Amino acid sequence: MKNVAVIGYGVVGSGTVELFEKNRESISKKVGRDCDIKYIVDLRDFPDSPFADRMVKDFNTVLEDDEIEVVAEVIGGIEPAYTFTKKALEKGKSVVTSNKELVANKGAQLLDIAHKHNCNYLFEASVGGGIPIIRPLNKCLAGNSIEQISGILNGTTNFILTKMIREQMDFESALSLAQQLGYAEKDPTADIEGHDACRKICILGSLAYGKHIYPNQVHCSGISHIAAEDIAYAESAGYAIKLIGSVKPVGDGRVGDNEKVSAIVCPRLVSKRNMLSTVEGVYNAISVTGDGVGDVMFYGQGAGKLPTASAVVGDIIDCLKHKGRSVMISWEDNHDENYVVDHRTVETAMYVRINSEDAAALKSAISEMFGKLTYIERPNRPKNELAFITPTMTESEIDANLAILSHSADIMSRIRLL
Ligand code: HSE
Repeated sequence: MKNVAVIGYGVVGSGTVELFEKNRESISKKVGRDCDIKYIVDLRDFPDSPFADRMVKDFNTVLEDDEIEVVAEVIGGIEPAYTFTKKALEKGKSVVTSNKELVANKGAQLLDIAHKHNCNYLFEASVGGGIPIIRPLNKCLAGNSIEQISGILNGTTNFILTKMIREQMDFESALSLAQQLGYAEKDPTADIEGHDACRKICILGSLAYGKHIYPNQVHCSGISHIAAEDIAYAESAGYAIKLIGSVKPVGDGRVGDNEKVSAIVCPRLVSKRNMLSTVEGVYNAISVTGDGVGDVMFYGQGAGKLPTASAVVGDIIDCLKHKGRSVMISWEDNHDENYVVDHRTVETAMYVRINSEDAAALKSAISEMFGKLTYIERPNRPKNELAFITPTMTESEIDANLAILSHSADIMSRIRLL
């Protein structure tokens, strides 16, 4: 049967078609019946593609064809992806996607529509590219209360940071290479400023804690302000700088009716003793702690054509195997503005780099201000520069101290520790 349609023939779409066709026979065996891709929907022309005879421009062709059971939406962005997805689900066609922006903003609603129409909305590829994380959280770890999730969730920024650390490549050249390799989003701001990682931590947090976390509820900062000096200080103090998304319950570790979560995306100094510090290049890693299982780590290629296609095709197979049945993945919609706590109320240690003509003289005042802090060094540190790591305290306390310090020094950098 020609029962699958792929919407969007970009990097992930072409990878999905390539992988599906390469393994079509074994996929058909796994599903238990013959399966194939009937349509590829894209407004562009691909006359040289070996699949040119399956290309159509109008999504309604897919919608009106009863033979189509599964639609792979790999166009990205909210529209027209949302409209296409909703219409397909309302027709009882399952939808699989790599579109984290759509899942993070409309996931609760689309899952609800899928259940009402006895079909599925699956999004393994939306977090961690080829890494299995959605299904393990939803199934294998379902018996746990999840105490925390934190991870490197964006391949582009990890690739850029790795090139900056290992090859002293400048930021722009590393970004341009990531774009050439097909890792970056169409607008690389989403990668660099942490929005892509933010969408992914929202999806993981929604799944783990059962209530939708919207990206605009989560404090998010990216890597564009990370300087070579910060990388050097971190290295010499035994840390790597990584863009980390994290989510955890606040309180007794169990999310109930009155519970809240802390969720944040930001660069962090990660100790070299932590496995996350060793994750390099386009690889992603996600650490999950459950009250039964303890710590588990998921690791693999977090971006790129075939790794992401691997997750999309896995979801297509799951949908084909569960035709007419919902595989139960869901969370409540949630518009409580206080569900995600203000990040300034959360405790952290902070790396701070300052510049001041009186740097040496300021040392004792800074120590008095923060209590037991650690000064750190880098090779050829200029005399007017100081870097230190604060003790663990709330961010608002750190901010208050830095506001006082800013009268006598320029605050050049502040990066949280993991
Ligand atoms: N731009 C994303 C990344 C693609 O670099 O991780 C995979 O979601």
